[in-house]
Amino acid sequence: MKLAPVRAVPGFDDLGMDWLRARGSVKWHRPERDVLPAWVADMDFPTPPPVVAALREVVDGRDLGYPDWPDGSPLRTAFAERMAGRFGWAASADRVREQTDLIQCLQLVLHLATSDGDAVAVQVPNYPPFLATLRTMNRRIVPVPMEDTDDGPRMDFAALDTAVKRSGCTALVLVNPHNPTGRVLTRDELGEIAAIARRHDLLVVSDEIHAELTYAPHRHIPFASLSDDTARRTVTLTSATKAFNLAAIRCAVTHYGPDRLLALRDAQPPDLYGTVSPLGVVATLAAWRHGDAWQRELLTVLDRNRRRVHEVVRDRLPLVRHRLPEATYLAWLDTRPLGLDEPPVEKVLREGRVLLDGGAPFGPGADGFLRLNFATSRNVLEEVLGRVVEALGGREGDGGAGGHLAP
Ligand SMILES: Cc1ncc(COP(=O)(O)O)c(C=O)c1O
Repeated sequence: MKLAPVRAVPGFDDLGMDWLRARGSVKWHRPERDVLPAWVADMDFPTPPPVVAALREVVDGRDLGYPDWPDGSPLRTAFAERMAGRFGWAASADRVREQTDLIQCLQLVLHLATSDGDAVAVQVPNYPPFLATLRTMNRRIVPVPMEDTDDGPRMDFAALDTAVKRSGCTALVLVNPHNPTGRVLTRDELGEIAAIARRHDLLVVSDEIHAELTYAPHRHIPFASLSDDTARRTVTLTSATKAFNLAAIRCAVTHYGPDRLLALRDAQPPDLYGTVSPLGVVATLAAWRHGDAWQRELLTVLDRNRRRVHEVVRDRLPLVRHRLPEATYLAWLDTRPLGLDEPPVEKVLREGRVLLDGGAPFGPGADGFLRLNFATSRNVLEEVLGRVVEALGGREGDGGAGGHLAP
């Protein structure tokens, strides 16, 4: 089948298969050569040119000496500027601390603020390393289901209120925008959570790493920006790594709302939790200060791709349930109505030679679900979709019938 004509976007739709297959990062490196990877949340697109230029300048300057940051890295101010410019949130640079990645941020906050055996509420399904973190740290998981309703995935606030009360929860880990469903919580929904947090005096750890990958008309609202009360009880975690495709830079920020927790953080031995690399800081600053034009192009491509996934699933796998994600480049597919007798990740890998994520690692209730990463060029996406549809016994139809990739 011929693809419908669309504008091929330079820098996004012209990825060579040889370049992709030669990559050393895990997404393409780990699977066998005939497998197409649409699993881990890395995008296939090359590093944004402003980030490459900034890193090149450092390397060309041949100065990799100790950075001179007596009062913290320049990330602190850059983060506050970014939050104000993007989301109208007056975050405070003084409350920012650097870490290598969001998992480390979460572990440190849980380590400082909660204890062995404490109950922590968290949405399910969820980003697997967060659930794994709660288990390895021996925190009791209080699952907050993202229920599939006629309006898409929704949280049941009455159930959350009861669960928090019953379990004696002291903290809530909020992932918004949500991985894997792609939901962006509205101001009203965040307000419900804020009321529960206030009622039960919860610490809210808000992961907002996907915020800049929100599709209009949806709007990301930082949880801490809702009110003075949420500002005081929220720790916000983010980085430039998702929205600018920089997972390797190992650089993230934690914004501490609660004074007591910030003081506790600062009372730790200063190097116990490591320090960020100046290269990670340079890359983040370049992304936040010079990457917006690239990111606008990116969002055009991702918006097109999310619609394409939706269309193909609707037309060729009509039993599979899929909601158009409101943010992220991840499609969350419910294959349970197909009645498969094995996990769909395994079936798609064996029969379609496409590696996806999904199932049990995403938490209770995630069996039978697939997570498909659509941040790739159009021809790769068509091939991925064609193979997934075939492996799941879908209908013949337009696009994705194979032959989209140059040999
Ligand atoms: C919701 C969420 N939080 C945190 C992370 C971790 O990102 P990083 O390792 O770049 O800090 C990811 C990565 O996919 C994610 O989806």
